[in-house]
Amino acid sequence: MAEQGLRQAGKALFHEAFGAAPALAASAPGRVNLLGEHTDYNGGPVLPIALDRRTVVHAGRASGFRFASRFEPGAVERRIDEGPRGHWSDYVIGVVRELVAAGCAIPGVELAVASSVPAGAGLSSSAALTVSCAAALARLAGHRLSPVELVDVAWRAEADYVGVRCGRMDQTAAVFGRPGKALEFETGTGQRRLVPFTGSVHLLDSGLRHVLVAGEYEHRRVECEEALRRCRRAMPELASLADVPAGALPRLGRFLPRTLARRVRHVVTETARVREGVDALQRGRRARFGELLFAGHRSLKRDFESSCDEADAIVALARKAGATGARLTGAGWGGVVIILAPERSAEAIVRQIQAGFARQYGRVPQAWRSRASGGARIEG
Ligand code: GLA
Repeated sequence: MAEQGLRQAGKALFHEAFGAAPALAASAPGRVNLLGEHTDYNGGPVLPIALDRRTVVHAGRASGFRFASRFEPGAVERRIDEGPRGHWSDYVIGVVRELVAAGCAIPGVELAVASSVPAGAGLSSSAALTVSCAAALARLAGHRLSPVELVDVAWRAEADYVGVRCGRMDQTAAVFGRPGKALEFETGTGQRRLVPFTGSVHLLDSGLRHVLVAGEYEHRRVECEEALRRCRRAMPELASLADVPAGALPRLGRFLPRTLARRVRHVVTETARVREGVDALQRGRRARFGELLFAGHRSLKRDFESSCDEADAIVALARKAGATGARLTGAGWGGVVIILAPERSAEAIVRQIQAGFARQYGRVPQAWRSRASGGARIEG
């Protein structure tokens, strides 16, 4: 849905659910990560773009906490002293609690959510929700949050309240993404740099959905923590897995069971791919950049084991059809594959992948075209 249509739908929803006009609205984008997967909780760099798909929240002051969304009838009523319920409104309550903890007085709020970010597809619908809520609610309470504080509130809502121990990539992309730019974010130092990234990306949905809470994602985090402890036996000064020099991998093998050695190899090679990818984009070397995506996917499949058959099939079909690069993006185990292709042949390539996938799986995967867009904002 186009941005204006989304804003109108959100405003109409607020009116329908609460019988009044909202005081204000804020929005934040989903993101697609070009390179740097599972590096953000290992002290490494990431390279996402903000998508042209957004979540818009309209909000107004109230005496309790009531939230409405386009995907279910009516409004859900919540209390801020209750625990998470496994419902989307947990993300909103998480934000309210973080803002209150930050000294922001929010006696109550009515809020309506409209979004064009597909949920569970690895496009960071949850950060689009937490960041847009944090921006709207802070403004409603007359509280000034710096962009970094906005990232922090949104991240803690998800990590501490909802209970997904994610890194900070998604919230950072949703706040700092810019049109025509990819965002290089060094999670070890907090440094950010915008890198030129013009043109379209194509997203193909594997159709598989993942659940992050208590799932494979958490399992990988635990494996990486264990791998870091073991690597420190050989390198006590090691700050994070991303700091392991590539040349030290064979030596560290002695301290690591095979599976953990492969996890470390993914983090180390993926860290190198982001750095090389930034360089390739700055020099306009799109073909080399695309190769890094293919290599990144191989690493996710073999070393991090966070891919799935459907995503592997899409990547293989993409290579055969002439895409310059393709890779599963986001947490993994399903979700979306990003495809890079020359502008003039991209549509034909996508159709070819869809047809090949349909022959293998008996269904046509959904495809979207997107481009690097802007971060969170208060809507006028
Ligand atoms: C999810 C998390 C991010 C990041 C990616 C994997 O999107 O929210 O913090 O770890 O997975 O790169």
